[in-house]
Amino acid sequence: MDRRPSPGISDKRFLHEEMTTARKILCVCGARPNFMKVAPIVRALSERAVEHRLIHTGQHYDERMSRLFFRDLGLPAPHVNLEVGSASHAVQTAQIMIRFEPELLQYHPDWVVVVGDVNSTVACSLVAAKLGVKVAHVEAGLRSFDRTMPEEINRIVTDRISDALFVTEESGVENLRQEGIDEQRIHFVGNVMIDTLMQFRPRADESTILNDLPLNGPYAVVTLHRPSNVDDPVTFGSILKALIRLSDDLPVVFPIHPRSRQAWEASEFCDLLSTAPHFRLIDPLGYFDFLKLMAEASLVLTDSGGIQEETTILNVPCLTLRNNTERPVTITHGTNRLAGTSSESILRAYDDLRRDPPRPIEPPPLWDGRAAGRIVDGLLGLTRTPSTVPTLKGGPARVPLSSPVESCT
Ligand code: UD1
Repeated sequence: MDRRPSPGISDKRFLHEEMTTARKILCVCGARPNFMKVAPIVRALSERAVEHRLIHTGQHYDERMSRLFFRDLGLPAPHVNLEVGSASHAVQTAQIMIRFEPELLQYHPDWVVVVGDVNSTVACSLVAAKLGVKVAHVEAGLRSFDRTMPEEINRIVTDRISDALFVTEESGVENLRQEGIDEQRIHFVGNVMIDTLMQFRPRADESTILNDLPLNGPYAVVTLHRPSNVDDPVTFGSILKALIRLSDDLPVVFPIHPRSRQAWEASEFCDLLSTAPHFRLIDPLGYFDFLKLMAEASLVLTDSGGIQEETTILNVPCLTLRNNTERPVTITHGTNRLAGTSSESILRAYDDLRRDPPRPIEPPPLWDGRAAGRIVDGLLGLTRTPSTVPTLKGGPARVPLSSPVESCT
């Protein structure tokens, strides 16, 4: 008997029942940060012999933005690549929906698992929700409260229509409660991106990237790709001015995202590299090389969400080149500070940081390398994950980064 509800019907009791019977799971990925998040989930599904498929939407398609990560992370080739490529938000989201729907109808899973906040996340959630297939959102509840960020719209919509919301930090639980999301749907599980970091840290340590570049001595790493930072020439110029100034003091390495490369080539700074000998643009790196570069850096400057989290665990000072963050735990527990996007605010934050470096308190609760196991067990109904953040007396022991991830089976 088909016990799934009619499309659009939400029923707490049903969800709980469904969670105890889920056996066929479809995972979605599409853009670079998704690969690090989906990898430990796919691994946990395989370890538990759960029938599953991985679908790649093709939102990111360059070798260095996609295939390199599948290789480094040991991800199996996706069952299908929808090959949507780049387009406007509307066209890209619509194309993903059009191409995802037949795959979903054909596979007929119990759950669709989406991760993060990219267009692939919201597009596939919408398709699944409208077909009455349960949606699990991994990294739910994060809010920058800035609706000019495309990701913020994706987060709000995805959370609204998801049946299970797997949350990385306490602020996410609070945000979902504030939005009136049913408590039964909220599961505080930790951070799958940190699962991947912990699993691959020893392998990344073997990367030869520092010799290859070469880099001797202290340096800063920069990543930038937010449309609000790179698509507006004034903001982009202001950030670059600060970074080039900073490179006189601390050499800067900037593995440049394709979106930012286009902006760079159109900018007045394009010809300035010869006058900034310590400011280096390099191609995007694979996971191991970037992790090594980040772990050994004296400072990271970024507008990425995931890198705020990774630097927190790596204990590397991070200046976030934004005015807000949807990941406040990286500031309260970790090494992150908001530095804004003007030359002055960035250089001021850099001076402050040199005078008074961040002193991380403890790893955020449940960032212990075992989030994916909790998620899959939650979906299989083996355990119920609490929505409340555990009370920490003195904080959990710091998990040594070189220790292997415990099997959760
Ligand atoms: C997307 C996500 C963003 C995420 C980021 C990580 C959305 C709305 N944005 O932004 O949340 O933080 O990925 O990288 O989903 N391009 C290539 N090769 C590629 C992919 C893109 O050259 O493999 C170029 C194209 O010119 C494209 C541009 O980069 O137009 C931007 O790509 P897009 O996927 O639209 O957004 P991102 O900026 O990568």
